[in-house]
Amino acid sequence: MKFSNWELLGGGLLVSAWVFWGAIMSGNVLVHVDEKSIHASLRLAEEADAAPTAAAKGPVDFGNALPLLAKADVEAGHKSFKKCETCHTGVQGGPNKVGPNLWDIVGRDKGAAPGFSYSSAMTGAEGNWTLEDLDKFLASPKDFVKGNKMTFVGLRKADERAAVIAYLRTLSPAPKPIP
Ligand code: HEC
Repeated sequence: MKFSNWELLGGGLLVSAWVFWGAIMSGNVLVHVDEKSIHASLRLAEEADAAPTAAAKGPVDFGNALPLLAKADVEAGHKSFKKCETCHTGVQGGPNKVGPNLWDIVGRDKGAAPGFSYSSAMTGAEGNWTLEDLDKFLASPKDFVKGNKMTFVGLRKADERAAVIAYLRTLSPAPKPIP
């Protein structure tokens, strides 16, 4: 078989086109791999940057007071409750002050003290005040019920929270069981 010059030229062009195409493709692949790893390292750098800010601004973990409840010091809780008494009474039939009366608060419907004018955030909060919800609320009131009007920073220490919740639990004709 004998190729004419034109055929050879055509074949040559075809081969170069393939080689060229191949080069572009492998080039692309390399570029993509590079982009990926660049993005990955950028992301890592961003995360490293964001971490301290998130810790400072984001929801902070104040621990879990529930495991401490069974052994909590009710008397210490009574003392800490003085902080709450600026705004709350805890006795049966006690008046609402800046905040609602807290008699029998464990297990009580959220935002349900008769005659107290709650924020819509609090009346809109779902469910009853379980021990768990009280723990989360008292750790950081503004984070647990967003937009509520209890201007109290919270009890950051889990053992103090456990003591206060253990005391709140006693403000009831029939204290709820500790899980
Ligand atoms: C500066 C006043 C203030 C202090 C101090 C305060 N609270 Fe409150 N608290 C409020 C107000 C006001 C509300 C109602 C919030 C709303 O309607 O958004 C409230 C609501 C509550 C509720 C929800 C009651 C319900 O009926 O749903 C609980 C539980 C509660 N407070 C517990 C405490 C405890 C425990 C302390 C002390 C560790 C405390 N508060 C300290 C003002 C205060």
